[in-house]
Amino acid sequence: MPFVYFQTFGCQMNVADSDELKRKLEARGFEETSCIADADLIIVNTCTVRQNAENKALARIKEFSKLKKPQCLLWVTGCMAQRMGDTLKDAIPGVSLVIGAKEIDNLDSIINEHLIHSSFYNQEHHSHSSVSDYITVMRGCNNYCAYCIVPYVRGDEHSIPVSTILDTIRARIDDGVKEITLLGQNVNSYNDNGTDFADLIVKVSALDGLKRLRFTTSHPKDCSDKLIRTIAETPQCCSHFHLPVQAGTDRILSIMNRRYTAKDYLNRIDTIRRYIPHADITTDILVGFPTETDAEFNDTLSLVKQVRYTTAFMFAYSVREGTAASRMTDDIPKQEKLDRLNRLIEAQTEITKEIYDSMIGSTIEVMINGRQDKREKFWMGQDNGCKRILVTGEHFNNGDIIRCSVKRSSGMTLVCDTQ
Ligand code: 5AD
Ligand code: SF4
Repeated sequence: MPFVYFQTFGCQMNVADSDELKRKLEARGFEETSCIADADLIIVNTCTVRQNAENKALARIKEFSKLKKPQCLLWVTGCMAQRMGDTLKDAIPGVSLVIGAKEIDNLDSIINEHLIHSSFYNQEHHSHSSVSDYITVMRGCNNYCAYCIVPYVRGDEHSIPVSTILDTIRARIDDGVKEITLLGQNVNSYNDNGTDFADLIVKVSALDGLKRLRFTTSHPKDCSDKLIRTIAETPQCCSHFHLPVQAGTDRILSIMNRRYTAKDYLNRIDTIRRYIPHADITTDILVGFPTETDAEFNDTLSLVKQVRYTTAFMFAYSVREGTAASRMTDDIPKQEKLDRLNRLIEAQTEITKEIYDSMIGSTIEVMINGRQDKREKFWMGQDNGCKRILVTGEHFNNGDIIRCSVKRSSGMTLVCDTQ
């Protein structure tokens, strides 16, 4: 049986794309390996959203091209593959195929074309399943935030038909999946002939056997009251909103082309907290966007302190070729960007710690998703929001939802006992 090795960089959309590719390869007789030396096919699924994401992927591809068996194929997929195309083959000898993110809908024919003549093309084989899975409900993006390369590499926004989504999820549940995360660059603008994202949530949660439903990412401009109300009223829906704010000042939000003000954003947060008081709210923030002043950065810092996110993904701005912002001067010195980033990370880390610490003594429901490698009686899981949990216990099954009391907090993980 041929072996495939996967290395995935970037967002959950990439993880979902890798999973889809994995399933298609498994159906053709491949087995996944964690050992490069055994691999007959190495797939590097890349990200291009920031320059350092690309640098990391390029370094790994070069490393793989040296480590791999001579006859092993090396495929590069995803957003950097879309941006660089076949120039990647010239840049790194050993890369045998480049599959851009926009080609994801044609995976079957690409695989058939490139593997059908090889000894790899094999008998039917069913894929394994885990308890938690990602399902892409929409692809691409039409928002064109000034800093962002995604609309260029992933193409126009389009929603996957409701019936396809329901059939896919039904099959996954039948395979043992208990938790589904609906994915899209902006799930809130999902629309299939009038079925919006709130309607989709109602339909998915009606599927028998689904224990938990999650979704990401939400764009604040499209996060409607109807959606928030639907999530509050749907017991399977987890109480976690990932709502990227990006910046805390109207002038910067406007040149970023985000199409909301700080006040609009805070109004969304208030509505979420009104309907779902204990919701975990997380965000993405970008510092050092062209022309951002120190005072404007301080507004972002104040917003972060006001909202009190459970966690945040924080980045220093990097120029992406072809975007609207790439036509502005990247005028914030690197050291200044890093200083702002560090100040932000410090403030957020403190808030995360306070939120985690405040959970000590409370009762939470945890879905078990694996055993901790190093400590035998520790199991890993997630609460109904986005918090990472360690539970002590003799034996659980992945997918079990158990009531626990929180004993300790490490600032980023809660340690619990079963009740
Ligand atoms: N520079 C830095 N961060 C960026 N992001 C997107 N584009 C850039 C860029 N050019 C961040 C945004 C987005 C997250 C996925 O990556 O915060 O929400
Ligand atoms: Fe990029 Fe904006 Fe689209 Fe998100 S909504 S993928 S930040 S363009």
